[in-house]
Amino acid sequence: MENFTFHNPVKVLFGKNQIAQISQEIPKDKRVLIVYGGGSVVKTGVLQRVKDALENDVVFEFGGVEANPHYETLMKAVDIVKTEKIDYLLAVGGGSVIDGTKFIAAAAMYEGDAWEIVKSYGGVVTDALPIGCVLTIAATGSEMNNVSVVTKAETKDKLFFSSPFVLPKFSVLEPEITFTLPKNQTANGVVDAFIHILEQYITFPVGAKVPDRFAEALLNTLKEEGPKALNTPDDYSARANIMWSATMALNGILATGTPADWATHMIGQEITGLYGLDHAQTLAIVMPALWKFCKADKSAKLAQYAANVWNVPLANEADMADKAIEYTVDFFESMGLKTRLSHYGLGEEIIPQVITKLVEHGHVNIGEKQNITAKSAEEILRLAL
Ligand code: NZQ
Ligand code: ZN
Repeated sequence: MENFTFHNPVKVLFGKNQIAQISQEIPKDKRVLIVYGGGSVVKTGVLQRVKDALENDVVFEFGGVEANPHYETLMKAVDIVKTEKIDYLLAVGGGSVIDGTKFIAAAAMYEGDAWEIVKSYGGVVTDALPIGCVLTIAATGSEMNNVSVVTKAETKDKLFFSSPFVLPKFSVLEPEITFTLPKNQTANGVVDAFIHILEQYITFPVGAKVPDRFAEALLNTLKEEGPKALNTPDDYSARANIMWSATMALNGILATGTPADWATHMIGQEITGLYGLDHAQTLAIVMPALWKFCKADKSAKLAQYAANVWNVPLANEADMADKAIEYTVDFFESMGLKTRLSHYGLGEEIIPQVITKLVEHGHVNIGEKQNITAKSAEEILRLAL
């Protein structure tokens, strides 16, 4: 088991009618900016519930944060924060809104060019406004972590930054809010969370039984509950189990004492940045191909996963690893996600562009062994055609 530091102070308010609690979490004298997305929270009534629950005298709103939030849009919110002397941000939405709010929180307190926050991976951040969250989709785990992914639309650069200053103070997790998700977004969320777990689990064994067994518990839960939520959107138990699994998948607990891969995310991010595919769609394409390419390095953990998640009988490691890849692809497809670039009309012409962006962003020598080079990424994308 490797050394680790674990620190997660985010307060989680989970269950029914938790929005009512937010007035207890946000000091009454704060000038609040509510940040939301393309309008789903207006339609579903969640925004109104939030406004009804707030007891602050000054409350502004900023809507229109797009999926894969744009730096250009977020900077408009930063202007409002500065002009109106906002000192508390309340994100009401999914990963995109929460990530966008994290960026606004850091940019509002940063003196220089705000894109430096992203370019420095968060290194230049020394302060941020406090953030609260009301989560509307179970997927990214952003509600309980310090990561934010922002896209500069002008240059198609989709990049992440992280900073302890942008950890939310609290997050409301009401599973019922996710009843209104369209099927494809429910599926995206389940698959994204599933892949967050796999990025931290399918590496090489280091005897870290606690995160391994947490990972297996969460994978089994998502595998069982994901299809239920697709078929019965208002199944509370399924939604609740998915929501907590997705949060737990990326709040740091699975990274305790283990190596992590994240190469699927690095490659997938470039595909979203360049071609606009949903985040989870890119991951479902890249991960199976990456596993085929890195099978020798990952076969021990793939075999463990085959046995403990897919109930594959013990056999030789390479055969079990093949089964693990096959069942994972079947699971993604059964959730309605395609697993090949060609399914989205993308062919080998995209490969040089994706590789150029990876190199430009310094995302080479990635993966748990830092052995996925630009050349390897090219071969992985070929396997994903
Ligand atoms: O924009 P609105 O109108 O609100 O609609 C959203 C959006 O179209 C809709 N939606 C959300 N909740 C809903 C709903 N529709 C009906 N009912 C509800 N209750 O769903 C669509 C997708 O929302 P989005 O926030 O984009 O989804 P998600 O949570 O999957 O976030 C994706 C973003 O998070 C980043 C991704 O790269 C992407 O930019 N990630 C963030 C991470 C992090 N901070 O740790 C890690 C992840 O790996 C990921 O990279
Ligand atoms: Zn993800």
